Formats: sequence, structure tokens, C-alpha cells
Amino acid sequence: MVNRNVLTLDEFTLREMHAFPRATGELAGLLRDIGLAAKRVNVEVNKAGLVDILGNTGDINAQGEEVKKLDEYANSQFTGVLRHGISCAGIASEELDDIVGFDNAISRNSKYICMFDPLDGSSNIDVNVSIGTIFTVYRRVTDTGALVKREDFLQPGIRQVAAGYIIYGSSTILVYATKRGVNGFTLDQSIGEFCLSHPGIHCPESGKIYSVNHGNFFQFGTRVQQYLADCQQKNETNGGPYTQRYIGSMVADVHRNLIKGGIFLYPGTQQRPNGKLRLLYECNPLAYIIEIAGGKATDGKQRILEKEPAELHERSPFFIGSKKMMEEFEDETK
Ligand code: AHG
Ligand code: MN
Ligand code: MN
Repeated sequence: MVNRNVLTLDEFTLREMHAFPRATGELAGLLRDIGLAAKRVNVEVNKAGLVDILGNTGDINAQGEEVKKLDEYANSQFTGVLRHGISCAGIASEELDDIVGFDNAISRNSKYICMFDPLDGSSNIDVNVSIGTIFTVYRRVTDTGALVKREDFLQPGIRQVAAGYIIYGSSTILVYATKRGVNGFTLDQSIGEFCLSHPGIHCPESGKIYSVNHGNFFQFGTRVQQYLADCQQKNETNGGPYTQRYIGSMVADVHRNLIKGGIFLYPGTQQRPNGKLRLLYECNPLAYIIEIAGGKATDGKQRILEKEPAELHERSPFFIGSKKMMEEFEDETK
């Protein structure tokens, strides 16, 4: 029998909408579109080993990285669904050099823009390890009716209206945050719907997990190195030693730490002072989610959400996790 106590993603977003008398339903529509694209990507991710979709396309993306076939597929699904939906004026993506404004009357009159990393952790595609999609939604700053401009996208993270991610893992989960809270929806494959499985997610104040690419240890600054050494031993305050967990798909690493408590670090290195992760569609959405859930995110100097972006694909050092662990990190590295 169908359990009618379980809300689907659409039912949930519509209920949320009704809590705001002036809401137009555009955001609910946008989230529904993202859910639809996610379901399509999920189908391909799950059969990646069966069809000729594994491996590289041979192309290099905007940032000089190899493009995997599924990166391209996910990018085109999210772009296509949002282009044909009725709630999104334009997009930016890790896989596209520049912003794309949707040039049709409905889209031009939409008030939201969306940015995404279509597949995060794509080096894990070929080896059956969890990968995901990260997305964020902003209200455009230019007037509706015209094509979107770069300034609609180059907004600080604090202005996000909603942010979320999907993980294609042991099960497929969509987590999204608005200022009202963070909620998770697990895909029920039997009915093809995301169903509310993790209502009101709160990140534990502290945890036992630290996540970092230890292979880069000798390229980190000395303060970060000292902090990582401290993670491996007990002191009066940290309850250590911590457990090290690093999948290489940030979205899955951060999701685990969000649920269990922990800290994820991607510091700058000697070769890459700003690290690897992209501010607009990787760091900002996850920072927004973790803050709404009670955690913290910084670039080592300032709150991620207050950074003023200058470039679409700019990178930032990234430290994110449970509130107390982040405070301890900040104390030890300031
Ligand atoms: P993407 O697949 O979108 O390029 O992102 C991969 C990112 C992130 O998910 C992960 O945490 C990090 O790259 C791993 O990088 P390292 O191999 O340098 O640790
Ligand atoms: Mn990524
Ligand atoms: Mn990616």
C-alpha cells in the first residue's frame, strides 16, 4: 500500500510555497525541473557500465580538464530541462565557458538563474563510486523581459535563494536548502519520485571525520599541516584522533559529513594557491546548505558566502563542516 505520509518532492515544494502568500510557484517549478533532470541523469549513471558512455570524450572543458561523456550528458540534461521549463532565465555550468541566456519569451520573463556542476567527482564515474550534481538558484538582478547578463551570476553566495545537490550513490538522494531549512529526498525507483526521507537536516556540532587529499600534504601551508597532524591525535578539546575519509567526490564527502558530523578541507597548494574547487557552483551551494544546517564554511580567511565573485569559474580554498570542528580549525590556523 502507498504510504501517504511520505511527501514527494513536488508535494513538499508546493506546501512550502503555500507558506508564502506572495509566492508565484516559480521556485517550486524550478526544483521540479531539477528533479526531472536528476532522474534522467540517474538512469544513465546507473547503466554507465552497460553502454558506450564510459570514458572521455577527448575534449577539454573551460578549465582545461578532460570531459567525461557523462559530464556532457548531465550538462545537456540539466541545460535542456531548464531551457524548456518555465522558471529559469539562464544558466552557468562547469562545462560551459560562458553563461547561457534562454532566448524565449517565457524564460526571459523568469526571475531565477541557475548554476551547476553537472557531475561532481567525475573521475569516479568509471569505478562505480558515488558521484553527484551540485546546483544553486539566485534571483536575477537585471530586469525580467531581457536576456540575463553576467552580473546576474556574479553574486555573492549569501544571496542564494536555494541550493542543493543530488548524489547518485547506493541510493539516489536530492538534498536542497532554502532559508526555511535543509531537506533530503530519496528516489523511490518504483514510482520514479523523490520522497522526503531526511526532513530538517541538522549538521551535528562536532564529529570524528576529517576529509582531505593527504597526497597534497607537503604542498599545504604549515598551519594547515599542523592542523592535519592534530586531527591524527587527541588533545583536550578535539576528541581525536579523527577518522580520515576522502572519496574524491566532494558532494558525497560533504554529504556524509553533513549527516554524521565532520570537516572537509580543500586548501590552496603551492601550485594552486586558490585550490581546485569552483566558488560559484561548488563551494557556494554547499556552504549555503551547511550554514542553514548549522555548520560553517570558509576559505581560510573569510566566510565563503560573503566572497564577491569576479569570474564565473574562479576557484577558492574551501573548508566546510560541523560548527565546532570549523571553529577549532579557524583557531588553530589563524
Ligand atoms: P569535478 O569532477 O566536478 O571536476 O570535481 C572534482 C572535485 C571534487 O569533487 C573532489 O573533492 C576533488 O575534485 C578531488 O580532487 P583531488 O583529486 O585533487 O583530491
Ligand atoms: Mn566538481
Ligand atoms: Mn564536474
